[in-house]
Amino acid sequence: MSLPYAEPYKIKMVEQIYRSTQEEREKWIKEADYNLFNLKSEQVYIDLLTDSGTGSMSDKQWSAMMLGDESYAGASSYYKMKDAVKNILGFDYFLPTHQGRAAENVLFSAMINKGDVVPGNSHFDTTKGHIEFRKAKAIDCTIDEAFDTTLNYPFKGNLDLDKLEAVLKKYPKEKIPMIIVTITNNSSGGQPVSLQNMKDVKALADKYDIPVFYDSARFAENAYFIKIREEAYKHKKIKEIVKEMYKYADGMTMSSKKDAIVNMGGFIGMRSEELFKKASVYNIMFEGYITYGGMSGRDMNALAQGLDEGTEFEVLEARIKQVEYLGNKLMESGIPLQQPIGGHAVFVDAKRFLPQIKKEEYIAQTVAVELYIVGGIRGVEIGTILADRDPETRKNRYPELEFVRLAIPRRTYTNSHMDYVAAVCKKIFDNRHEAKHGMRILEEAPIMRHFTVKLEKIK
Ligand code: F0G
Repeated sequence: MSLPYAEPYKIKMVEQIYRSTQEEREKWIKEADYNLFNLKSEQVYIDLLTDSGTGSMSDKQWSAMMLGDESYAGASSYYKMKDAVKNILGFDYFLPTHQGRAAENVLFSAMINKGDVVPGNSHFDTTKGHIEFRKAKAIDCTIDEAFDTTLNYPFKGNLDLDKLEAVLKKYPKEKIPMIIVTITNNSSGGQPVSLQNMKDVKALADKYDIPVFYDSARFAENAYFIKIREEAYKHKKIKEIVKEMYKYADGMTMSSKKDAIVNMGGFIGMRSEELFKKASVYNIMFEGYITYGGMSGRDMNALAQGLDEGTEFEVLEARIKQVEYLGNKLMESGIPLQQPIGGHAVFVDAKRFLPQIKKEEYIAQTVAVELYIVGGIRGVEIGTILADRDPETRKNRYPELEFVRLAIPRRTYTNSHMDYVAAVCKKIFDNRHEAKHGMRILEEAPIMRHFTVKLEKIK
């Protein structure tokens, strides 16, 4: 008999969480204008809003923090982080930033101009926001398979090479500052990109002389999936796969709050010294001097340690197995999910969950609010509200997929919490036919509206 799987760590510190009543939650969510971002964290029992900056650091990371060097320039912590970026990812040049979108802001300031186009695979919302803010356009070249949630395709994050080449042919080289490959592809369900696809994208990019940048927030999870699902890499170590992945990139932006398992931090990795010099100017303006870029020394130390731990197979296996554990439980209850289960989160297919609700009534938000009311669980809408309005027509963009994302923070919750989440989801799913209407927007910001939108339930 084979023994069951168990995590390769034990718990050293605990944090009390409040178990509220449904009555309390109904009042709180109304006061929060049915926007889950407006809730106080103590009003949430299980917080699956994001896996970004919400993970638990290890004892080694905490002890690295005590050795942080807080010098303004040339801190040893900066060099530790520089070494980790070079050794693990292979980039000679790097700039620390306070988080991922700050890396985008700095890099795009140096590279993207008005009228440019930036092809990629379902650009993340901050990435798209930073592109559109510069009056440039993000063009989605994700493979069609990603949009059929029932299809069990191993690399749904992949770029469609024909779609990509069509963009590279249509626009002059000067108008395409970069191709962005998001690993894993968050917006299409935490889905990985294969190493073969990375190679192919790079070959195509070279043909048209366009640089390739990886939006790398969950690069280690992507490497795990390559090991598990791509035959040629099954005997390779995660760190070897990571090295190979980055051979096909000219640079990267990183939100270290994910796979580097820190609460705050980011960076840009680059091969070009010229780009490094250009981006340094913006880094100094927006983030801080080039040897700290908005991070404290202790945070850079924890990040360097986190990059190392986060690219260990055992750490990734424990994390991804927990996400699968939740996903499998939901599937046992018949709940429709993006297949296969993603790296950092379970993506509930809201359109199939509540087919009777019109897309104009924000289907995924309706499901997300219900999860909170019934169980105190905070997920997030990845649907029409997040997709924002078209910057030109100002009309709502209705994405093909409406998800409620249940993102699992790293090393934070136990599988009993996952059992609870699954039970709450089942309860709502079993009563789904009772839902008659969704929600209506009362107030919204001109860009990235999902953070501050105010809603009401349609009676
Ligand atoms: N790129 C991807 C793929 C992301 O998922 C995120 C953040 C960012 C860039 C921006 O990084 O938050 O450090 O500024 N994603 C979080 C999420 C917020 O919940 O998925 P950041």
